[in-house]
Formats: sequence, C-alpha cells, structure tokens
Amino acid sequence: MHDEALTRWRRGWAAARGWNDAQRVDDVTVVRIGEPGRRVSYVATEQNAAAAAHLALTDRNPPGTSWVRIATAEPERLAAELRPLDYVRTEWLMTISLPEQALHPVPAPYAVEVTGGPSLIDVQLYGYGELAASGRMSILHTGAVADMIQTDPAHRRRGLARAVMTTLATHAVARHTPTAHLSASPEGHPLYTSLGWTTLTPLLIARTTPL
Ligand SMILES: CC(C)(COP(=O)(O)OP(=O)(O)OC[C@H]1O[C@@H](n2cnc3c(N)ncnc32)[C@H](O)[C@@H]1OP(=O)(O)O)[C@@H](O)C(=O)NCCC(=O)NCCS
Repeated sequence: MHDEALTRWRRGWAAARGWNDAQRVDDVTVVRIGEPGRRVSYVATEQNAAAAAHLALTDRNPPGTSWVRIATAEPERLAAELRPLDYVRTEWLMTISLPEQALHPVPAPYAVEVTGGPSLIDVQLYGYGELAASGRMSILHTGAVADMIQTDPAHRRRGLARAVMTTLATHAVARHTPTAHLSASPEGHPLYTSLGWTTLTPLLIARTTPL
C-alpha cells in the first residue's frame, strides 16, 4: 500500500537534500546520505520491512548510523518485530492537491524571500532582524515534496509556518506542479492537517543501536 506515494516522497526528499545516490536492493530503496549520524536510510513498505531491517543490521556502517523508514499502519507493532533495531519516532506520509491548500499571508512585520533553482524552491521569512522561519520544496516530474519546514522557537504560533507553506504551494503551482507529498513530524502533523493535507500512512523510523 502507498508504494507510489512513498516513491514520490522519497525521490523529492532526496532531491531536496541533495542526496543523489539511491538504488533498489530486495525491493528496498537504499538512500546513501553520508552524514556522520546517518550514513544510509532504507525506505520500504511494510511487506519489505524485514528486508530493510536485514540490510540495516548487516551493512557494516557504524552503530546507530543506519536508518530505516517503513510505511506501516501499525508502527509500534512493527517496531517490536524489527528489534534489535531501535524505534526512533513515527512520522506521517501526507499529500495534497496544492491548489486546494489553505492560503495564509505572511503576517506583519515579517518579510518573505524566495530563492531556489530549476528543481527547488527555498522560502525564508525574516523578522525582528533574524531568520524566523524557512522551508523548501523540491519540484520533480513526479510531483513536489515539502521539506525542512521550521520556525525558530521564539517565533512559533504566529502563522509563520503556514505562510511558508502558502508561499511554497503558490510557487509550485506556478511551475505547473499540482501535487505534493511530505513526511510530517509529530509537531508538523497538526499544522499540515489544518492546511488541508491528507494523511496516507504512518511511517516508522528506526535505526541500528548507537554504542
Ligand atoms: C511545526 C512548526 C514548523 C510549526 O511552526 P509555527 O510557525 O509555529 O506554525 P504556525 O504558527 O504557522 O501554525 C499554524 C497552525 O498549525 C497548527 N500547529 C502549529 N504548531 C502546532 C503545535 N505545536 N501543536 C499543535 N498544533 C500546531 C495550529 O493549527 C496552528 O494554528 P494556531 O496557532 O492558530 O492554532 C514548528 O513547531 C517547528 O519548527 N517545529 C520543529 C521542526 C518541525 O517539526 N518541523 C516540521 C517538520 S515536518
């Protein structure tokens, strides 16, 4: 279930972060990340969860640096089945038809700056002399993916994240990209739900045990 949405999200997620090395092994997508704490992420649907866990547990990366991300309706049950991988958190794979996302203007006195490239839109909101909120959207032929949506703690609950999402959506629609996906954190999930995004499935995030 949700194979296509997971693939669309995974492609856009990797593009948004500049991770260009992805390959399929045993119906699991291996995304080479190369960060000190996250060398690799194995992305799969539940039917291939055991293969993803096996790859993570046998890949010889330093302990704690091999991650798995599995689309599953029951993340806690699956987390127990995949031990000795460590449960990290649950996120949610979400989607929207961007023209239907609720529109919220940038609140005063904040100002918006939009940069990017052919396949990226970067949005920053500045206010009181500092960067207050930001977000990114990758634009691929498989659709858009929103990523790294964040508001500085001092500026939260003032409508900045929804203004970032509005700006990203407006620019993506202008680039003829009508559909988007994202992986929502527990903090982000209510925000996106309030904007009209639909939850497709929980995503279990686990990793090998750090030393
Ligand atoms: C999630 C996050 C981006 C929200 O930023 P924000 O600027 O405070 O969000 P907004 O003010 O635009 O919130 C808009 C609506 O989203 C919902 N919302 C936002 N944060 C929420 C929270 N912590 N709990 C419940 N609902 C929340 C509310 O409906 C809110 O409207 P309201 O304030 O009128 O009730 C911010 O908390 C953050 O940076 N968290 C850490 C990083 C993170 O998890 N990012 C999301 C990655 S998917």
